[in-house]
Amino acid sequence: MSNKSYYSSITKKIIMSLMGLFLLTFLVVHLTVNSFLLVSKDLFNEGAHFMGTNAFIQVFQWVLFAGFAIHIFYGIVLQIQNWMSRPKGYKKRAAMEQSPFSKYMIYTGLVIFIFLIMHLNNFFFVKMGWVGHMPMTPSGEEDMGALVMALFHNGYYVFIYVVLILLMGFHLDHALQSAFQTLGLNHPTYWGFIKGLSRAYAIVVALGFAIIPLFIYFFK
Ligand code: HEM
Repeated sequence: MSNKSYYSSITKKIIMSLMGLFLLTFLVVHLTVNSFLLVSKDLFNEGAHFMGTNAFIQVFQWVLFAGFAIHIFYGIVLQIQNWMSRPKGYKKRAAMEQSPFSKYMIYTGLVIFIFLIMHLNNFFFVKMGWVGHMPMTPSGEEDMGALVMALFHNGYYVFIYVVLILLMGFHLDHALQSAFQTLGLNHPTYWGFIKGLSRAYAIVVALGFAIIPLFIYFFK
């Protein structure tokens, strides 16, 4: 690899990591608001209403979509470069040296992408008035909580959501540590801590999201 293409790959990786960290932060906020559904639909609606009317969050939403697009685009470009530049003889050894989660990042990433398309179609596009029909509360406000409840009383959706979200957990497990590594924050003294943090993040976020459809289906 020439110096120029080496530095261009590093730049892409750094941009990807920064976008990835941004998306990881979004997931924590999103999970927090969604967890209100475990208490009541009305509490969730209050959270959704705040998010839907706050000017900063309205702008942030489009920054978020750009973040997803950049992360996905560079992820695909880097993966293709990686496949093309790997010498054939080393292929097997290199594959053995990678952790299974890191080896499958492109595939688990694809799963998240498919999930995202379905998910936006279920909620965000309905809110925008592009598909379906948004239920309203008696006081005439959007009833996003009712839309979520209705979807998760359908067993097929519950199953698809839970499976895809758990697969997302594998992507997340590698994501945080990979971002730290790319940004050079991988000192041996605290590397064990970063790996543990990455795993804890993946477990809490994936299980947190997966519990919501199950809880609604069985208890609400
Ligand atoms: C059970 C799990 C989940 C539920 C109940 C849920 C619910 C929702 C709802 C109701 C909206 C529309 C919010 C609005 O515009 O007012 C939304 C949007 C969104 N969700 Fe989720 N979500 C879940 C999991 C996820 C996961 C795992 C991801 C990450 C890949 C994700 C990414 C997004 C994005 C990017 C948007 C559009 C931005 C936004 O409106 O905030 N969601 N979700």
